[in-house]
Amino acid sequence: MQIFHTITSLQNFLKSQRLLGHSVGFVPTMGALHQGHLSLIETSKSQNDLTVCSIFVNPTQFNNPHDLAVYPRTLEADCEMLESVGCDVVFAPSAEEMYPTLPNLKFDFGDLERVMEGQFRPGHFNGVGIVVSKLFNIVQPDAAYFGQKDLQQCAVINRLVKDLSFSLKLNICPTLREKDGLAMSSRNRNLSPEQRLNAPAIYKALQGASGILKSGESSEKAKSFVSKQLSAVDGIELEYFEISNFDTLQPIDEYLEGKTALCIAAFMGKTRLIDNVII
Ligand code: PAJ
Repeated sequence: MQIFHTITSLQNFLKSQRLLGHSVGFVPTMGALHQGHLSLIETSKSQNDLTVCSIFVNPTQFNNPHDLAVYPRTLEADCEMLESVGCDVVFAPSAEEMYPTLPNLKFDFGDLERVMEGQFRPGHFNGVGIVVSKLFNIVQPDAAYFGQKDLQQCAVINRLVKDLSFSLKLNICPTLREKDGLAMSSRNRNLSPEQRLNAPAIYKALQGASGILKSGESSEKAKSFVSKQLSAVDGIELEYFEISNFDTLQPIDEYLEGKTALCIAAFMGKTRLIDNVII
């Protein structure tokens, strides 16, 4: 596995690979890798000659300085995990390498970012749009892999690829969960043992709400179920629970079979967790 810290060295290597006719799959991450990330690498490996994983904790997408400060950074362990699944290339730039100057450019994803993550984390998707555009330009992949865990991010990147004519195939991969249902996340490492024990309540609430909607009951009933369910758990503070159209991510009042996304964000202490299911 090759590890690059500069754009030029990575690009020189990738140029030589393209001359050999090798296709490039790309998995952007912020590190603190877990099995969920590795599943994206494995999917990319099965579909491309070469897989590149970037590890960069992108400061421009953090609207909360505390969240950025405590975001886990574990480059050495990450590289070991990537090597163990046969990742070919790691790109781990410094903040100065990625942002010699901070871009003035601003992305506005319209309605897509007025809801949920966009609403509660102002500026977040602008930062995601900037860094992912930069990474796509640097790596120039044939295909890129993102997780459904960050559903709204997937929708934003889909728009970005269309609006800026990035010539790559976007792949959305399923959410990997712990045995107790908790969606794998780098932020789970910041949970105390007690918080970790209670965190699966988030997915359980999503499952309960799914059952309610599928049985034909109202969205109000599903919403009050989720808020009651989570307020009964020690240390969980619900930020939002939304029933949305899976395509547009705009709120809907009734269940559309196969097209409904249930999305949740909750705090456990200072750690913010998100999850979703599509029903
Ligand atoms: P990060 O949170 O590190 O996630 C990297 C990729 O892994 C994202 O596409 C995310 O959706 C996916 N992922 C996270 N948890 C997952 C899980 N449990 N199962 C499957 N996939 C999962 O998302 C980001 O980084 C950043 O915003 C980034 C796109 C790298 C831009 O900075």
